[in-house]
Amino acid sequence: ALAFTITASAAATPTKVLSNQQLTDWLDTSDDWISQRTGIRQRHVATTESTTSLAVAVAQKLLMRARLAPSDVDLIIVATMSPDYLTPATATQVQAEIGADNAVAFDLNSACAGFVYGLKLVHKMLQAGQTALLIGSETLSRLVDWHDRRTAVLFGDGAGGVAIRQSQSGAGRWLGEYFATDGQLGRYLQAGQAPTNPWQASKTEPGWAFQMDGHRVYDFATKRVPDSIDQALAAAALPASAIDYYLLHQANARIIKRVERKLGLTADQCPINIDRYGNTAAASEPILLAELMAQGRLKRGDQLVFSGFGGGLAVGSVVIEF
Ligand code: ACO
Repeated sequence: ALAFTITASAAATPTKVLSNQQLTDWLDTSDDWISQRTGIRQRHVATTESTTSLAVAVAQKLLMRARLAPSDVDLIIVATMSPDYLTPATATQVQAEIGADNAVAFDLNSACAGFVYGLKLVHKMLQAGQTALLIGSETLSRLVDWHDRRTAVLFGDGAGGVAIRQSQSGAGRWLGEYFATDGQLGRYLQAGQAPTNPWQASKTEPGWAFQMDGHRVYDFATKRVPDSIDQALAAAALPASAIDYYLLHQANARIIKRVERKLGLTADQCPINIDRYGNTAAASEPILLAELMAQGRLKRGDQLVFSGFGGGLAVGSVVIEF
């Protein structure tokens, strides 16, 4: 098997921060309700930034930190459910901005599971000696109805990413994975309905804002995430206790705590940063990884689990040696 090496990580967030307290200016909500039910205290929202500009900022940091020339990059995948354009894809604009002329670039949409689905694609697509940039970038604030308190309090904007190299020898291994998609439950989390043409029978107004059955999504996550982690660990032939860090999608701190209890993990194994970012969908695990790496908490040889879940509904867990 090839070495699968995460050579760098990076994050970028908009400068504007909205606290829970600020939301109470126009929403019938409270800092207590939001922080107790979700763990969120603030979120970043784009003003001058875009999904593309945040992704480009991450890509530039990745090149510097991994000491890559733009021409060294073979593959750029941006995982996003909130692209600025349907075409050109965000990743193609990242390629242009950083001058990665040799790279193949495209976007991937698996909502909040985008980062782990991207990891799987990178693992499958990269040949020995090749390098990829995998970036999750979102401006979910544009898909939020800011007058709907059930969803407005949950989401935030930001981007995070990793540089990955596959090679014959080197640090890092792909140890196991488990992916599952349950399209029957897709209607429980919707956003960004496209417009119709003049001939289509259905003349419903396009609905851009998030519509979510929070209970259904919560039930899906608290059941399917521990299951998928169990399956991925079984594929890796590792017990849950052997994993140094579980980088779980940051949708709700209560979901993470439930997963932690179900798998018998410690709080140290399950880092949480949703308090500062809210749910940033495809960006959440790479932002968390970038923080852990910046704090010097990861060392080569550590065993990591990434687990993402959300719109689709979709779930995926990956076990790697760092
Ligand atoms: N402030 C104050 N009160 C509120 C708010 C708010 N922001 N939102 C809802 N309420 C009220 C409700 O109206 C309800 O009032 P009622 O009892 O008078 O009817 C009460 O609070 C309880 O509401 P619930 O929906 O039962 O609250 P719950 O504890 O289930 O929490 C939440 C809701 C946080 C959305 C939870 O269901 C959840 O986290 N679900 C999972 C969501 C998720 O993970 N989504 C991520 C997928 S991400 C992706 O793919 C983009």
